[in-house]
Amino acid sequence: MGNVSIVVGAQWGDEGKGKWIDILARDTEIVARFQGGNNAGHTLYVDGQKVVLKQIPSGIFHPGKISTLCSGVVVNPSQLVAEIDMVAAFVKLVPERLWLSARAHVISPWHIHLDTKAESEAANPIGTTKRGIGPTYAEKANRTGIRLGDYVNNAHRQDWYETLSKSNPKFAAHRQAHADQWQEFEDAAAKLAPFVVDAEHMVREQIKAGKRVLLEGAQGALLDINHGTYPFVTSSETAAGGAFASLGFAPRSIDKIYGVAKAYVTRVGSGAFPTELKDSVGEHMAKVGKEFGAVTGRPRRCGWLDAVALRYSGAISGYDGLILNKMDILTGLDEIKVCIAYEHPVHGRIENFPWDHAILAECKPVYKSFKGWTEELPQGGKISDLNKNALDYVNGVEEILGFPVSMVGTGVNRQDALFR
Ligand code: GDP
Ligand code: IMO
Ligand code: MG
Repeated sequence: MGNVSIVVGAQWGDEGKGKWIDILARDTEIVARFQGGNNAGHTLYVDGQKVVLKQIPSGIFHPGKISTLCSGVVVNPSQLVAEIDMVAAFVKLVPERLWLSARAHVISPWHIHLDTKAESEAANPIGTTKRGIGPTYAEKANRTGIRLGDYVNNAHRQDWYETLSKSNPKFAAHRQAHADQWQEFEDAAAKLAPFVVDAEHMVREQIKAGKRVLLEGAQGALLDINHGTYPFVTSSETAAGGAFASLGFAPRSIDKIYGVAKAYVTRVGSGAFPTELKDSVGEHMAKVGKEFGAVTGRPRRCGWLDAVALRYSGAISGYDGLILNKMDILTGLDEIKVCIAYEHPVHGRIENFPWDHAILAECKPVYKSFKGWTEELPQGGKISDLNKNALDYVNGVEEILGFPVSMVGTGVNRQDALFR
């Protein structure tokens, strides 16, 4: 059995990964983010105070643990400096505790400009977070990007400016027109330099030495660049497999893989969403669940749990267990539904999540119904402590999915967690 565990989003993001990483980090020595950038917003509560982490891994509030960003992450330097300062109110971050991969690519003001421009000019915008994520990954794939190790090296950073300016006059013009943004970008380099290391090598050494590592995903499986609802996806590999590529380690080191799902579904941005509700139930989920984006503040679209999508998500990442989160938000609803199949006007009944976004957009959900409950859910304890209807729902979901629900979330705090 290995000593590396992975926690990923099982839906379209914002499932509550931050809270669960914070809980599971208790039993680990290192927490590593393996993809995404500051498009992520992971919320947790430290001593009752709400904290939203965008780049720093969510295990950071456990004293003495190491946090690291691996090669598959894209880093916004000035935002990361601001986040290190924000976290300093709780824990002082020294380089021994925060390892930033020299291989991670850097988001610059230019990439943010490109993202914003593409979204504003698109006929069908993706609804990105406008954080420059797509253009930075595109530049990486195009082999014209800048990695953190080169960014913190003054000469290499200047070389990158020069190379890009020569090949693209608009880049040079942007640097001139937005000198303040580029100055901020420059200033962050010296501040981050002490943290930049060969993080992948260091983590592998720790794995070899028997230390436990928890890999933190951002976004969710349905936003995966390969397996998600393309083109309405993010630009990285959000499913569990992305972790192997980013960190560079043997899959046999894996112990457990967990997917985090809400007990319903939310989605921010555009794209098909078969179980979306535009009625009073959807409003209940949005209002009680406080469904507003942690990064952009946009309202999240809400709907019933989609088991077709979740089975697919489980198949991609191989969950040992599903974490069914925010169960408390369903309290008070008379009836709770789970989508078990889709009905398509041409293709009939569909049980496998379609690769074609146009087909998904035409799918209507086929529901199985469960009885609701009005009792408050326990804050802490065992899943079997749930009231009968809530327990029937959890067991029903497990049966429909074909893999275990191993944890349940019933509130925003660390202790609001039920285990099997
Ligand atoms: P992440 O991106 O997956 O880490 O999730 P976000 O932080 O973007 O969104 C999850 C939201 O739900 C946050 O506001 C959390 O504080 C909140 N949350 C997490 N778990 C629970 C839960 O079990 N119950 C309730 N009511 N809220 C939760
Ligand atoms: P966490 O880690 C929810 C969505 C955006 C958009 C699409 C592409 O907090 O779960 P991008 O800026 O990545 O190019 O946007 O992906 N998106 C998220 N949705 N949670 C996130 O992160 C997200 N990160 C990106 O809304 O639809
Ligand atoms: Mg989030």
